[in-house]
Amino acid sequence: MSSRNLSPSRRTFLQLSAAAAAFQIVTEPMLAAAARHRPFSKDGVMIDSNENPLGPSQPARDAMFAILPLGGRYLDNLTEELIQTFAQQEGLNPDYIHAFPGSTPPLRFGVVAFTSAQRSYVGADPGYEAGPMVAAAMGARVVKVPLTKTYAHDVKAMIAAAPDAGLFYICNPNNPTGTLTPHSDLEYLVENKPKGSIVMVDEAYLHLCDAPSTLDFVKAGKDVVVLRTFSKAYGMAGLRCGFVVARPDLLEKIMDRSGWNFMPVTALVAASASLKDPSLVPERKRINASVRQETFQWLDRNGYSYIPSVSNCFLLDTKRPAKQVIDAMAQQNVFIGRVWPVMPTCTRITVGTHEEMEKFQVALQKVMSGATGFSLPPARPDRNPRREAFLPT
Ligand SMILES: Cc1ncc(COP(=O)(O)O)c(C=O)c1O
Repeated sequence: MSSRNLSPSRRTFLQLSAAAAAFQIVTEPMLAAAARHRPFSKDGVMIDSNENPLGPSQPARDAMFAILPLGGRYLDNLTEELIQTFAQQEGLNPDYIHAFPGSTPPLRFGVVAFTSAQRSYVGADPGYEAGPMVAAAMGARVVKVPLTKTYAHDVKAMIAAAPDAGLFYICNPNNPTGTLTPHSDLEYLVENKPKGSIVMVDEAYLHLCDAPSTLDFVKAGKDVVVLRTFSKAYGMAGLRCGFVVARPDLLEKIMDRSGWNFMPVTALVAASASLKDPSLVPERKRINASVRQETFQWLDRNGYSYIPSVSNCFLLDTKRPAKQVIDAMAQQNVFIGRVWPVMPTCTRITVGTHEEMEKFQVALQKVMSGATGFSLPPARPDRNPRREAFLPT
């Protein structure tokens, strides 16, 4: 497709650069589209953006339908209601919560607020790229610290690497590995980080696993900012709703940069209905875990290597430059990806529906066996030593 045929926003996606990131929001779909070099395909198997193929729940859909006639109004009470519901459920003071269209804006403005040329950004490698891109564009030093051999954040190494830290970014479970950092390690980071620095914990994928939240640190008045989104377990990525939760003085610093904007009423009522539905999270967690497990069993049976995950994505080790496998899979209309430079033979796979993962399996077998005619270089015989270390002996 020629770039002339693309809408301005599509062009922006594909021209994503670190410089541009200073002035715009960097999101998962932008990163996925930039790696894909193709627009969203309705007929394709789209397992490259960590979306939830189930979409919004039925109560969320009903709530959106019911609010449509009032869509001409700003209805600011809906934001209030959503925050009250969340605050009650989590035992939080509502003054500690602000709603945004997704967790991307508070992530971006948190990086702007807490990093600078003098205060570095510290994250994991591999890790979610949105924060480092913004930090680099701001002129902050970006410190990428390898994950441990169990693919947790190496909090001691993170502290040691950056006495000048402004912000420690932790994604738990991590994107792209889908692996966890123990709560005790996060506690260690919060208690031992350099004075004046902030720990941002991105809990975008937390609902898909059984790990505890770090909201307890916020409640205890620590220098911690927690991000939550309705884009993953709740299936509302296209509707846009998320929270930032932090002490009011930290929230104010983020809001000073972000300004205030109105939330879409559809997202607000869908988010409220989702929170009030007690079956939603357990049900989606169960479905995601079951398809993920099926996929892992199939990969095991067929001799593929991957990093076990507790989330809706995992890294597949293709034993070759993974970009070539991504391109060959795209020829089969199965969109996987992307690649993190620190692990060039691995690519991230999103856990889709059972049917989508069956199509993924068929395409992967074809591509890896050479049956597609797409010639792949031979597999590298060496196994990923870090994955080996992780596997039980
Ligand atoms: C780690 C992480 N944080 C934040 C987000 C932002 O999601 P949203 O802006 O849709 O809430 C994503 C999206 O994929 C993500 O992977």
